[in-house]
Amino acid sequence: MRLFILTLLLTLPLWGQTPVKNVQVLPYKTVEEIKPFMKGMAQSLGMKCRDCHDLNDKALDTKKKRIAREMMKMVRTINGEILPAIPVEDRISCWTCHRGKHEPEERE
Ligand code: HEC
Ligand code: HEC
Repeated sequence: MRLFILTLLLTLPLWGQTPVKNVQVLPYKTVEEIKPFMKGMAQSLGMKCRDCHDLNDKALDTKKKRIAREMMKMVRTINGEILPAIPVEDRISCWTCHRGKHEPEERE
């Protein structure tokens, strides 16, 4: 009984929520939390969920998903270390470069 209550207390914060399985860079713990972020991110790249994900299991890594994860690390390093050290106040996002496109435009 005691164990039952303990288990209940530990899982209660996740009640009705699905824990993520393979999130290595982003801070989200549940599918419900990560979805709004994914929607915004997909829009800023002009992509659909299926461009990066196997829709049967979004935890599986694909080629595009791996690129996206490295891009997330790049953004994290720029925002967390490089810009604060300059120092400037503004931070970057996927949109800063991609502007709704799969690949950022070059101007040459
Ligand atoms: C540009 C590629 C890309 C697009 C487009 C994208 N995702 Fe993701 N998604 C990722 C990456 C990368 C991760 C893992 C992030 C990490 O490791 O921190 C992820 C993780 C997830 C996860 C967690 C899966 C798990 O259990 O580990 C869910 C759920 C998810 N995405 C849903 C969506 C939905 C819904 C959409 C469309 C609205 C979407 N994603 C669009 C790249 C993408
Ligand atoms: C500093 C600019 C910059 C930022 C910020 C940036 N990207 Fe990129 N991204 C690029 C460039 C440049 C390419 C094209 C590389 C090439 O030539 O194939 C690219 C390509 C990609 C690709 C592959 C596109 C394809 O069709 O093959 C994905 C996926 C991607 N970025 C995801 C992201 C995500 C997700 C973020 C935000 C977390 C992000 N990027 C932020 C510059 C950026």
